[in-house]
Amino acid sequence: MKPDVIRPGQTIGILGGGQLGRMMAVAARHMGYKIAVMDPVEACPCAPVADEHIIAAYDDVEAAERLSQISDVITYEFENVDLKVARLFEEAGRLPQGAYALEITQNREKEKAIAVEAGLSVPDYRIVTTFNQCEKALEEIPFPVVMKTISGGYDGKGQLKIEGEDQLDEVRSFMKEGGTYIVEEWIYFNQEISQVFTRSQDGRITSFPLAENIHKNHILHETRVPAEVPGGVVHKAREAVEALAEKIGVVGTFAVEMFVRGEDIYINEMAPRPHNSGHYTIEACSVSQFEQHIRAICGLPLLPVYTFGAAVMVNVLGKHKGILIDRIEKYEGCHIHDYGKHESRTNRKMGHLTFIGNNLEEIDERIQQNQIHLW
Ligand SMILES: Nc1ncnc2c1ncn2[C@@H]1O[C@H](COP(=O)(O)OP(=O)(O)O)[C@@H](O)[C@H]1O
Ligand SMILES: [Mg+2]
Repeated sequence: MKPDVIRPGQTIGILGGGQLGRMMAVAARHMGYKIAVMDPVEACPCAPVADEHIIAAYDDVEAAERLSQISDVITYEFENVDLKVARLFEEAGRLPQGAYALEITQNREKEKAIAVEAGLSVPDYRIVTTFNQCEKALEEIPFPVVMKTISGGYDGKGQLKIEGEDQLDEVRSFMKEGGTYIVEEWIYFNQEISQVFTRSQDGRITSFPLAENIHKNHILHETRVPAEVPGGVVHKAREAVEALAEKIGVVGTFAVEMFVRGEDIYINEMAPRPHNSGHYTIEACSVSQFEQHIRAICGLPLLPVYTFGAAVMVNVLGKHKGILIDRIEKYEGCHIHDYGKHESRTNRKMGHLTFIGNNLEEIDERIQQNQIHLW
């Protein structure tokens, strides 16, 4: 199907005004689009770069209708927006990304099932709603396992690693009445990687380089490109995401997180939007994950992706921001991004740094000199 083309001067509505919405908006503004954002927080990161801000909860149907009226096309910047609202936009012909990708990625069970349907490996898992079912799952999957809420989790929130039977009391108090959980085999991975790509409305895909992700306290700390993985993994990862993209009918930028063990990959999570591990593309690639996303939803042809030799992105959390601002003139050889969040919390993502170089060794040296490795 030929997509409707959204032209500069028209308005892009963004559901969610966090840093992803802000970076999408900045990319779109370069191209001459107007921005309307819907977010409940008056001082959200996207507000200062938007033309209109509808301050409303994501499930406020009336507000959503207002957004739809003032927007020529709508996108979402995170997967926990309201599905009902997304479906309204889709029915109104305003949501090229569709609501299906949201429905899948909002729910870990659906996410795993679709990966299996696409012929891909996932950690062994069971879905449980009662403590008894959970005990049975723990008999079937050897320790350690990780138990996660079926939806709504991020940055390791809503997760419990279970090492042995002595934690059963902890499991009992972790489970809430009426909740649904996934119990997953723990993968002793060698690396965590993510493949970020963009798919146009007519089904063309461009991929960014495979990235390696280092987490600290379950929060992404560093993304490194190129991912230093065994030979076949780059190709396998790309084939895996292409299979998923077709199955889901992805439109826009999309990310798939995977574990690497030996030469095998296991699908962990998916995000139907630009991803923290793709921020490096702003400076390291000829087109960023945000600009490519805007092009996809506006029905423009995707650009080819060319990349510098190497890049490292480091997240700036609340606990780092003070040092960064105080010593800003001393940070050499890195690009600085501040999301303009008013309220800082220890582990809140406040910004990021991007280092570009010919190779990772050179960048690692710069990271050492800047003492970022102590973060
Ligand atoms: N089955 C697993 N085996 C090993 N590590 C895991 C597993 N599931 C999650 N983790 C670790 O926890 C991190 C966060 O889990 P994830 O499922 O990505 O949730 P979220 O990013 O939504 O918090 C992963 O990046 C990984 O480091
Ligand atoms: Mg994750």
